Amino acid sequence: GFVSESDRVKLSLPTGESVEILLHGATVISWVVDGQEKLFLSEKATLDGSKPVRGGIPLVFPVFGKPTEGPVAALPQHGFARLCKWELLGRTSETDTSIQVDFGLGPENLTADQREQWPYIFGLIYSVNLSKNSLETKMLVRNEGFKTFDFNLLFHTYLRIPDVNNLTVEGLKGTNYKCKVTQSEAVEEAVELPINSEVDRVYANVPGTVQVKDRGQAIFKIDRTNLEDVVVWNPWDGARKMADFGPEDGYKDMSKRPTALLSRIRVLMPLGLLVCIEAGAVSKWHTLEPESIWEGSTIINL
Ligand code: BG6
Repeated sequence: GFVSESDRVKLSLPTGESVEILLHGATVISWVVDGQEKLFLSEKATLDGSKPVRGGIPLVFPVFGKPTEGPVAALPQHGFARLCKWELLGRTSETDTSIQVDFGLGPENLTADQREQWPYIFGLIYSVNLSKNSLETKMLVRNEGFKTFDFNLLFHTYLRIPDVNNLTVEGLKGTNYKCKVTQSEAVEEAVELPINSEVDRVYANVPGTVQVKDRGQAIFKIDRTNLEDVVVWNPWDGARKMADFGPEDGYKDMSKRPTALLSRIRVLMPLGLLVCIEAGAVSKWHTLEPESIWEGSTIINL
């Protein structure tokens, strides 16, 4: 099924799976399979278009992080794609086992300031494809102008997980990464990477499938086409500094709670529900000549 509302679209399959996407940022905010939500969405996320959404799958384009130099220095952190209202291009395919919707973004959807910050003529087509046990997101980038441009692209996917303490991430061993927490570079040694403190790493040229495991059982298997890099992020207690991060019970009552242990458990609880595994092309610029097209996609299999 396909339902289009003023600010969002909802896709569903006859077998019950569903996905919900806001026109704001073309942000996927929900993916339900077997009655279970697969994506983390902050309780305090802003969904009215005034801020990027804290949760779901915000789109990062044309720059990853906060650029400090070069032609993109004026752009906000992670670019403008997650801030813009996208055009609904419509449902492009539907069968009993899969359904796809496409969204478009071009300079005409940007504010005058954004067009000045990134003065290129471009066209993005973003496709979200829901199948019974997977969710695929695909971006097509076209250079429709006369000037060559460079870009990054990333699907900033917030995965909902049962408990961070039992979680490991597999498929990164042997890959070079930049750690933004310690400002260092290293080669990953862990076959199964645990998430037990703040993690913010950009793994470059990850060769194959990345698996997210709960007690050793794969709960998400992430494959990528043309997206060579993977970012692993969990803000840990840094989330307390984020105004749009919730549930917040962990810290709002803290002063009233005498036992340090109880406060600590409550602080860690909200963070325990998510890990961001972000498929992207971010460790280097991708250059697109006039009249050229680039396409990248990722599929999350359960
Ligand atoms: C991650 C970055 O992809 O996004 C982090 O690696 C960043 O450094 C995080 O903190 C969230 O960014 P934002 O802009 O949504 O708060």
